[in-house]
Amino acid sequence: MDEPLISASLVFRDDGTPYSPRHDDIYHSAAGALAQARHVFLDGNGLPARWGGRPRFTVLETGFGMGVNFLATWAAWLADAHRPPVLEFVSIEKHPFSADDLRKAHAAIIDDAAVTPLADALASVWPPLESGVHRRAFVAGAVTLTLAFADAADLLPHLAIHGIAADAIYLDGFAPARNPDMWTPTVFASLARMAKEDATFATFTSAGIVKRTLIENGFDYRKVAGFGGKRAMLVGTRSQSPRVITS
Ligand SMILES: C[S@@+](CC[C@H](N)C(=O)[O-])C[C@H]1O[C@@H](n2cnc3c(N)ncnc32)[C@H](O)[C@@H]1O
Repeated sequence: MDEPLISASLVFRDDGTPYSPRHDDIYHSAAGALAQARHVFLDGNGLPARWGGRPRFTVLETGFGMGVNFLATWAAWLADAHRPPVLEFVSIEKHPFSADDLRKAHAAIIDDAAVTPLADALASVWPPLESGVHRRAFVAGAVTLTLAFADAADLLPHLAIHGIAADAIYLDGFAPARNPDMWTPTVFASLARMAKEDATFATFTSAGIVKRTLIENGFDYRKVAGFGGKRAMLVGTRSQSPRVITS
């Protein structure tokens, strides 16, 4: 956790998709960053319906990136008459963008006028590029963002002892083949410890290694239609009893 922070560089592919040279992967599908957030992470976690009637709802995310999932969740919360009074969003990011690059990225990828002011609000309180946990509040404190600039595998075991209880988990750490560090048993075991009994998760991937690691670390999954030409993705719940796969 004490390693110096290495920020991300903002690079676009020819088709306008933000790309990470470090991980050789894209941040979002060319079919649309907000549309992907809504299909994979909101629909994948049964939102907004699942948060209706609750006093608060906590989302835990691996990989904050440009914050598109956060912005899509916040916008869905604002638009929902049955929203919980409090929305907590907790996310971990090892290589954050600078505030300037975040603004440039949002200008290029946010294609919904209702989300633009939220993106501006986020950029205007963007934390300094320093390792550690940064907290920000919006809508008079009704929406909170706990953003940890840290390595997920290092930080998650510590977050688990801080009483975070997730209602929904967004697994968004680049493809497992390109970034295996975000998909390790340690990461999933920590997430399972922080997942409420009825917690759900969603992820764009359907890789076999992720399925096995999910099952072995306390989650049940099912395959559903993916986004942007991707055939399948995984959604699921915390299982009642972690199992060991022997074959
Ligand atoms: C696909 S992008 C996330 C997109 C993001 N959720 C959004 O809505 O814009 C994956 C993110 O995971 C971050 N990441 C990669 N390895 C990490 C690690 N070991 N710990 C924490 N974050 C990591 C990357 O820097 C990148 O920002």
